[in-house]
Amino acid sequence: MNIAIVPGSFDPVTNGHLDIIKRTSELFDMVYVSILSNSSKNPLFSVEERISLIERVTHDLPNVKVEGFTGLLVDYARAKNAKFIVKGLRAVTDFEYEFQMSLTNKQLAPEIETFFITTNAKYAYLSSSIVKEVAKYGGDFTEMVPLEIIEDIKEKIGGTR
Ligand code: PNS
Repeated sequence: MNIAIVPGSFDPVTNGHLDIIKRTSELFDMVYVSILSNSSKNPLFSVEERISLIERVTHDLPNVKVEGFTGLLVDYARAKNAKFIVKGLRAVTDFEYEFQMSLTNKQLAPEIETFFITTNAKYAYLSSSIVKEVAKYGGDFTEMVPLEIIEDIKEKIGGTR
């Protein structure tokens, strides 16, 4: 069985992420969408909230499971028996950082491969930070995230404004 991990912060999940998750779910038997919970970033949504948002938008994908993880990604991948890490690449600007992470992970766990999927062109500009920025200042972000989570973002941003 081919198991893949789609790791990230997903704070919050965007249409770009969801596109990558869906495409990955068509390529592998089992996909873990894995949210880093030892991040130094100051997140908008807690890991539990992010898990529930992603579960809501992936409920139609039976081979996708959403989890939090701590520590090294490769240790988590090994624990899940996953041989593949899948990342979305938007632009050249993503490349250097992703390349560095991929080589680090290869050094730590040579048996695990990182695959890059090119983002859908219509989401190439998107990131969680962009969504948060637009939402914070009252802009229309409804094309940027799955419909089912728009209200959650509005509520959360409203509460922190
Ligand atoms: O959505 P992001 O912020 O690009 O996700 C980054 C993530 C979670 C994939 C990355 O930070 C990660 O794998 N962190 C776990 C710690 C780790 O394994 N570090 C070594 C590889 S650089």
